[in-house]
Amino acid sequence: MPIIKNHHLEYSQNTHISGQNLLFDSSKKINRSKKYKMPQEFYNQGYVLIKNIKNLKEAQTILEKYISAINPKELPLYSKFINKIQLAKVDLIPVCHDIVPRTFQALHFDMGQPIISKSTQSMYVILALYKPKNSTPSSAKTRIVNVKNILSQQRCKNKKLTEKRLINYVQNHGDGWTKPDRVNTLRLACFARIIDAITQRHQLINEIDNTTGQWFEYKDNSDGFTKEKLFFSKCGFNLELVEQQINIKQKQLLIINNMRCIHGRIGPRKPKEIYQFLYGVKSATPSMINDFRKWQIR
Ligand SMILES: [Fe+2]
Repeated sequence: MPIIKNHHLEYSQNTHISGQNLLFDSSKKINRSKKYKMPQEFYNQGYVLIKNIKNLKEAQTILEKYISAINPKELPLYSKFINKIQLAKVDLIPVCHDIVPRTFQALHFDMGQPIISKSTQSMYVILALYKPKNSTPSSAKTRIVNVKNILSQQRCKNKKLTEKRLINYVQNHGDGWTKPDRVNTLRLACFARIIDAITQRHQLINEIDNTTGQWFEYKDNSDGFTKEKLFFSKCGFNLELVEQQINIKQKQLLIINNMRCIHGRIGPRKPKEIYQFLYGVKSATPSMINDFRKWQIR
């Protein structure tokens, strides 16, 4: 068991390790507005596909109008988050050397989500993918699963025990890195690791520093999707019943709630094929982090 240092450190904030260019220090918090309305599908299913967006600027404007209009009555989990949400990242993806050649990405929360923390952590609440007008058509499909839909396939008999299992798991095997020291960010990105925690199977406890392209595919480039479905099925969950797959076409913007839904990919993407927006809260408090964890267990 390695010595765990710097519990509060966070992958996304360590830009020299994560390679992420974060905009928290230059973007403004989005104020609430009653002028606009978030499409109902976003509340009902956790994601929405918007068509006919002319360019990147329009995509950002629409995203921020919708975020300004999030209704906490529809999304009580967001009550403490609204008024603190700001643009955290906008990039052409994929860029990482180990993601580009892959044709599969396991289901995950973008940037991971903290499970428990004594200090503030950034939380990424909205993810959006925009395919520009002149981009090359692609066969890649974005996989989306609503967390509630999958977790409700099994009845949680003892919520307190399940929560304890999740907390123990992240305290001992949270995402992080090992060099030069073992750092545990107390976050989990890969959803299969959350299932691994709550079912107490502990098959994925060593995969603390895998990237989204490596889970279920890290030994060879064979069918990661089949491996992931098998893992979920052994834990009593049927992915095929709840997974949606969307091929984002030119001028389309897919908006995903990164707290209520997990996502992945099937099929190849060319480098820098699609824009990714991330909106988040720079300093989510321990109580906001607890709300997210308790919501998942419920
Ligand atoms: Fe992602």
